[in-house]
Order: sequence, then structure tokens, then C-alpha cells
Amino acid sequence: MQILDHPEEYSKIDLQGMRAEIEGLPTQLQAAYQFGLSQPLPAWKDIRQILIAGMGGSAIGADLLIAWLEGICPIPVILHRDYALPAWAHQPGTLVICSSHSGNTEEVLSVFEQARQARANLLAITTGGKLAQSARDAGVPLWRFVHAGQPRAAVGWSFGLLLALVTHLGLVPDPQVELLNAVANMRYQQEIIGCESPVAANPAKRLAGQLVDRWPLVIGAGVLAPVARRWKGQLSELAKCWAQFDVLPEADHNTVAGVIYPQDQLSRTMVVFLESSTDHPRNHLRAEVTRKVLMLEGLGTDTYTAPGNSALVNQWTALHFGDYLAYYLAMIYGVDPTPVDASESLKAELSQRG
Ligand code: PA5
Repeated sequence: MQILDHPEEYSKIDLQGMRAEIEGLPTQLQAAYQFGLSQPLPAWKDIRQILIAGMGGSAIGADLLIAWLEGICPIPVILHRDYALPAWAHQPGTLVICSSHSGNTEEVLSVFEQARQARANLLAITTGGKLAQSARDAGVPLWRFVHAGQPRAAVGWSFGLLLALVTHLGLVPDPQVELLNAVANMRYQQEIIGCESPVAANPAKRLAGQLVDRWPLVIGAGVLAPVARRWKGQLSELAKCWAQFDVLPEADHNTVAGVIYPQDQLSRTMVVFLESSTDHPRNHLRAEVTRKVLMLEGLGTDTYTAPGNSALVNQWTALHFGDYLAYYLAMIYGVDPTPVDASESLKAELSQRG
């Protein structure tokens, strides 16, 4: 825990510069949206549904977008984290977007190939790899961006490009003002939760302290549901800690029942509720009541309230807080936040096996 008040020491643990990635996220988000607006698109006619194929750090941007679109977009936009192109996506009027940071993710490449064979409208989003090559070979529109770091650190890209795309397609009112507001609020919050801000004044550092040697469960609703997933992903990938996420109102219909066993483990669980001004009032109430129920059962609980009063501001400030939180937990555990050895060796074994 003492390490958190010595940011000059972080680079001894953070050997590949994850700190700079997190610090640069507001700039990345803004730049990605502008870059997306400058990209060419074919004059697709009559797009009736959109499928986005992506995994892990490349999928989370789509998750965020879809939650934000829910109240405003007239057509369904579905995220697909798997190999097979769903039957409905073979219908005319489907746009399939294949998004992979590396361009080498087998699930996304599989969807790309099936969508190409089905002659679906296709767009590839990547930094390169096999996806860029396949798109070029097949004459498929390709949005190629430059980002040398980890896919999860490119969440501004994976979201910002998709936001620009739905704007291009006329599916949403111009989001520029709301996006710039989100960026400004992230920068403002960064003054408080950034690395130079001491533990005593820094809620992200203090929450990281509470997570030490505990199982985190992050719960969100509405536009913060994908942010709960992001917090969980960052806690796993940066701090290498076992973490889970859940979503309200669904969690009240099952998760809350599972608070009896194993008795000796539950007190080591820390449940963090993500809340915002744009929550559905019933979900807001549910978070309050659910927290009380869990506390009475002996689980640790806390609440993070996202600043701002628009969905994009809520999402991005909450996401940024979670990135810092995971980073600080990595510093406390003394683990480099960049490498993900377990995922890499798993990918290697899968590719060895054909
Ligand atoms: O954060 C990560 O590194 C992973 O979750 C990757 O994003 C995931 O394995 C998919 O790879 P890519 O984003 O290159 O398609």
C-alpha cells in the first residue's frame, strides 16, 4: 500500500508503460472519434441490423457503444463474441463489423470469412495482422489505426471508431458535444485519481487498498453494465486478480441468493456498485437495497458514483476510474500490468493444436 504514495517507483513494476496508456486515454478517445469521421465508407443501402464481432479488449468498446445506443438507435446493434456468424446475420441489410486490435484473433477471423462468403456488408477495424490482409484481399473496407500497446489500452480506439461509424451512418444525433464533455470530465477526474494524487485525497487508490486480498465483484446497470465488465477485465489483466462482474437488475434475481456458501470465503468478497445520474431510478434503488442485503450477509461493499449527467460522461469517467483502480492494485501486488502470460500461452497452445 505504501507504494501508492511513491509514483516515482511505479516504473520499477510497470516496465512497459501502462501508466502512460491510462493517462493518455482521454486524448486517445477524442483522436479515435476524429479519425473515424475521416475514414471512407461505401454507400451501403438500407442497413437494418449491425453485428460487431470482437473479443476481449477489442469487444469492450462495442459493449460500451451498444449500451449507449439503447435509447437512441433505431436498429439493433449486437455484439458477437464467438466463431459462427449467427443465422439472422445472413439476411440482406446486415452490416458485419469485424474488430480486432491485433487482427489475428481467430474468432473474429472466422466471422469475417463467413460474412465474406455470405456477401454481407463488411467493415474491418484493426491495426493490421491477418484481418487487414484478408480485408485487402477481399476488397473489404478497412479502418486501420495505429496503436502499439495492448488491445485493452486501446479502448478509446475500439469505442471511438464505432461511435464515428454510427454517426456516419446517421443512426445517432451528432455526439460530438457529449463526447468532448466526457473527455473534459475524464481530465478533471484525473486530477483527483491520477498517480500524483496522494492516497489521502485519491478515491481510486483508497479503493485499491480495500481490494487487496479480496475477491472483487463489480456490479453496474444500464450504461454502466459494460463498465462493470471493463473493471473486471482490467482487474484480471492488470492486477492479475480473480474478479467478476454482474449486472442489475438481473443480479437481484439470482446472485443475491448465493451469499451463504462457502462460508469462510464470502467475507473476503468485495462488491463494488457502479452508479450514475443516468441510472434507471429502480436500478438506483436496487443498488442501494442490494448493497444492504450483501452487507448484512458479511460481504464487503462500496459504491463508486460516476460524475456528470450524461451517459457518455458517466461511462467514460467510470471506466477511467476502473483503469486507475486496476493499475493501483497491480502496483500494490507488485505485478507488471502489461503482460498477460496466461492468455498468451493459451493462445499459443490453441494455435499449436491446429
Ligand atoms: O486485452 C487483451 O489483450 C485481450 O483481451 C485481447 O483484446 C483479446 O484476446 C482479443 O485480441 P484482439 O483485441 O487483438 O482481437
